[in-house]
Amino acid sequence: MNIAELSKLHEESLAEAAAAADAAAVEQARVKYLGRNGLIPAVMKQLRDVPAEERPAFGKAANAWRQAFEEALKARSAALEETCGAEAAPAFDFTLPGRWPQGGSLHPLSKVVAEVARIFARIGFTVADGPDIENKFNNFTALNTAPHHPSMDQSDTLWLTDDLLLRTQTSPVQIRTMMSRKPPVRIICPGRTYRRDTMDATHSANFHQIEGLYVDTKPVSLADLKATLAYFAREMMGEGIGVRFRPHFFPFTEPSVEVDFTCHVCGGKGCRVCKQSGWIEVAGAGMVDPRVYRFVGYDPQKVWGYAFGFGVERIAMIKYGVPDIRHFYENDLRFLEQFK
Ligand code: DAH
Repeated sequence: MNIAELSKLHEESLAEAAAAADAAAVEQARVKYLGRNGLIPAVMKQLRDVPAEERPAFGKAANAWRQAFEEALKARSAALEETCGAEAAPAFDFTLPGRWPQGGSLHPLSKVVAEVARIFARIGFTVADGPDIENKFNNFTALNTAPHHPSMDQSDTLWLTDDLLLRTQTSPVQIRTMMSRKPPVRIICPGRTYRRDTMDATHSANFHQIEGLYVDTKPVSLADLKATLAYFAREMMGEGIGVRFRPHFFPFTEPSVEVDFTCHVCGGKGCRVCKQSGWIEVAGAGMVDPRVYRFVGYDPQKVWGYAFGFGVERIAMIKYGVPDIRHFYENDLRFLEQFK
C-alpha cells in the first residue's frame, strides 16, 4: 500500500462516519475501521513492509487517519444523540416524582420471633430447633401426658402414622434438647405448631409458639421464672406492663401457671378486649415436672428448672393491635405494608 491508497481509505472512512444514520451504523463503521480486524490496525501492521525512506511519512499519515476517523465518529454520535433527544424522545421532566421499586419486609410474625430471640439472648438463652413432624414420645409421652389424654385424640392432633404426628406444641423441643445436652440448659425455641382447630378470629390450625426452658444444677424457683417473664414483658411491650400468674395445669410442669400481661388496650382498667379483667393471657409456664427429668435421663434430685410457652400470634396481636389472627396468613399487602 502506498500513501495515495491510504489517503483514499482515509477519505472514505470519514465519509462513512459522517453518513452513519444511527448509533448502530456508527458502531458498524467503528468495527470496520478500528475493530480488532479493522482496516486501520491492518494498515498499521503493514508499516513494517514500507520502504524505510517512506516509512515516517506513511506512519504519520496512518496516525492522522486514526485520529481523524475517531473524531469523525465522535462528532457523528454526538450529532445523532442531539437530534434523537430533540425529535424522537419527549423531553425528560426532572420535576416528576421518582418511581420507587417496591421493597419487601419481614412478616410481622418473623419480626416478633426475631425480637423475642434478641431479648432472651441478652440473658443467656440460645435458640434451639426441632422438626415439625414429631413422634408420640417427644410430643406427649416424655412430656408426661397421660396415655389416653384427650389432646392425643384424632380430633385434636394431626396424626401421620401410629407414631408420627404434626407437633401440637413446641414443648417436644424441650425433650430433644435435654436428651442431647447436660444441664445447664437455657433455650428458646420458636416454631410452627399444628392442631385440628377451626379457624376464627383468635384460632388457627397452624400457628406459632415460642418455647422456653431453663434447667440448672443449682436451685431455680418460680420467682426466677416470674422475674424472667417480667423482664421479657417490659422489653417486648414497654415499661409499666404488669405480669400475673394464675394457677393452672400442664402435664409437664408442677406447679403450672398461666401468664397474663396487663391489657394493652385499657392498661389494666378493664375493657372489651380483656373482657373487663384488665389482663390478657399470653403464655403457659411452670416448674419442670420431675417426671419429665426422668424421661430424658436427668436426675430429678439434682436439677431444677422452669419452662414456658408463648403464642407468637398472640404476642403480635397485642404488640401491633391486630384484631384478627387470619390477617397473618392472608398475605394482603395492605396489611403487611404496615410492618415495613
Ligand atoms: N405447650 C403448651 C401449650 O401448647 C404451652 C406451655 C405451657 C409450654 C407450659 C410450656 C409450659 O413450656 O411450661 O399449650
